[in-house]
Order: sequence, then structure tokens, then C-alpha cells
Amino acid sequence: MRCDYAPMEGITNYLCRNAHRRYFGGVDRYFMPFVSPCKDRVFTKRELRDIVPEHNEGVPVVPQLLTRVPEDFLWAAGELKAMGYREVNLNLGCPSGTVVAKGKGSGLLASAEELDRFLDAIFSGTDLTLSIKTRLGLRQEEEFGPLLEVYNRYPIACLTIHPRVQKDFYRGAVRMEAFRAALAMSRNPVCYNGDLVTAEECRTLEAAFPGLDGVMLGRGLVGDPALGRKLRGGEAADKETLRAFHDTLYAGYCEAFGSAHSAMSRMKEMWFYLMGLFADSGRQAKALRKADTPQKYERQVAEIFRDLPLRQDNPGLWRDVPGWPPEK
Ligand SMILES: Cc1cc2nc3c(=O)[nH]c(=O)nc-3n(C[C@H](O)[C@H](O)[C@H](O)COP(=O)(O)O)c2cc1C
Repeated sequence: MRCDYAPMEGITNYLCRNAHRRYFGGVDRYFMPFVSPCKDRVFTKRELRDIVPEHNEGVPVVPQLLTRVPEDFLWAAGELKAMGYREVNLNLGCPSGTVVAKGKGSGLLASAEELDRFLDAIFSGTDLTLSIKTRLGLRQEEEFGPLLEVYNRYPIACLTIHPRVQKDFYRGAVRMEAFRAALAMSRNPVCYNGDLVTAEECRTLEAAFPGLDGVMLGRGLVGDPALGRKLRGGEAADKETLRAFHDTLYAGYCEAFGSAHSAMSRMKEMWFYLMGLFADSGRQAKALRKADTPQKYERQVAEIFRDLPLRQDNPGLWRDVPGWPPEK
């Protein structure tokens, strides 16, 4: 079954994707964190750094757009096509309050009619392959019926469903029965996304839904970078490889930001998920969070790699951390 790396803004940027591919692999496609085109018709420097082909050489990537304006989508899609991209993903899942208030991300799911108009405009305006990442609705899963009817009118290369509604953010149980119904009714290939953190969970899902086109893994892959490889019967992560992955990424951030302090902050976001791969990490996790200089951070990382044994599977403890991810 195909395995996609989920887009995670602030985490799965080009440095992370390159380092992951180099040290772990096991992923078919990496979805880029969203780019939000506006009427100025320019990508920001930060957006460009992530999407330019030079930064993604040898890595199978799919760029993602977040907008409710068809003209902005089509402009950005045209630019991406000129860079050589063949597929663009549309973000209809982002639950952030500020995004939804502007009618973007999962905010576009508020009206099936508006969604239909938007899709009609973008599908008739480009010959690029289009895929979609969606939630079940804004407030309740029953909203998905009419939305799926709309999706079924378009040749969506892959409909990735995160079976929660906007107001769930990333909390609570995923709505598996609603996902089951959606899979049965979709005319387009469906990919599952949400809360998979072990190879066993992925295999159980695959067995339960043989019609699936693929799975998309986010926090599970950040927390255990070898998860995709293990799904294919490959090796679990070992400390040496994890250390090399960490060091490559940290050095990359230091260079890209010109600041070890900013690099440390970025690395801490990854450690929030990665820490679960180390056994009995409570004390070290706290010390790492508290590290306020790169020197302290580096000492703490060295201690973690020296003293803590690895677990075989990350338990995904962050799934129950109240207030995470922040609602922005
Ligand atoms: C910090 C963070 C950033 C995210 N950024 C994006 C994004 O840019 N685009 C997107 O479609 N989803 C984004 N997501 C959602 C993930 O792609 C994914 O749908 C979500 O984490 C659930 O999958 P998982 O349980 O496998 O992590 C983000 C999630 C998190 C936690």
C-alpha cells in the first residue's frame, strides 16, 4: 500500500524531507506544507525555499495550496507547473481558527455549493493532476454526505480523508465508521490519514479496508522516522542513524536560519514527537524542553542518545497531551 508523508507546517520542510529520505526512506511521496497564494501573485521567500526544485532533488514531493479563490489557486498551480510539478494538492482540512474564519482549509467545507463552484473552476482551469486532503466537515460528520457528492463529480487523483471534523482539531477518537461509509461511497481513490503511529496499526487498517489507495502518516512518522520502512518489512530505527538524521537536520537549520537558537526551537518541535521512541525519557524530555541555549540543547541531546534505550514502536504519547497541537 502506498505510504505518503503528511504535510506538517514548521516540521516537514525541505530540510526534513531530504534528511528523512536520505536516512530512512520507506515513503512514496512527501506532501509539502501548504502555500497560501494571494492576489499579489508572488510566493514569499520562505515558500520559495521550500518549493524550488533545487531543494527537492530526488525527493518525490507534492506541493499543497490553501486558498478559497480559484484565480489564486490557478495562478499558483501555473507557477508550480512551470517549475516541473505534475500534481498539486488542495488543503481542505486545516482546522486553524484564523484559516477557517477566512473560509479556507476546512472552512471551505461550510457550503457544498461553494465547494462545488470552487472545484469546477479549478478542475476546468488546469491540466495538472489535482488531489485533495479533507476533513469530514466543520461541526459534525453527517456533513460529509453532500460534500462527498461534490467530490464524486471531479476526477480527484486521490482524496485523502482525515476522519475528524474541524471542531475536533486533532483531538478525540477518529471517526472510523464515517470513514468506512466515505470509502464505500467515493468514486475517487481514497487515502486514510489520522493517528497511525505503529506498523501494526497501519497493517490492521489495511486489512480492515482493502479498498484503500494508501495511508498518509504525519505525527507517527515524525515520532518514528523508520515507520514507513518498517511497513515494508524494513529495519527499525537504530541510534546511530537517528543521531545522523538529527545532526544533519540541526546543521541544516543552523545554516538556513543563520542562528543556532532558532534551529534549536525547530528541533524541539520534532522532539515533541520523537521523544516517545526513547524509553523512560521523562526527565530528559523535561530538560530538553527547558534548554534555553544551543549549548544546553546539544548537551541534552547527547545525553539522550548516550543514556536512553530505544523502543521498538513509538507509543504516540502526544496523542493525549491536552492543548496540542496549539489551535493558533
Ligand atoms: C504541527 C502540524 C502542522 C500541520 N500542517 C499541515 C499542513 O501544512 N497541511 C495539511 O494539509 N495538514 C497539516 N497538518 C495536518 C497533518 O498533515 C495530518 O493531517 C494530521 O497531523 C493528522 O495525521 P497524523 O495523525 O498522522 O499526524 C498539520 C498538523 C500538525 C500537527
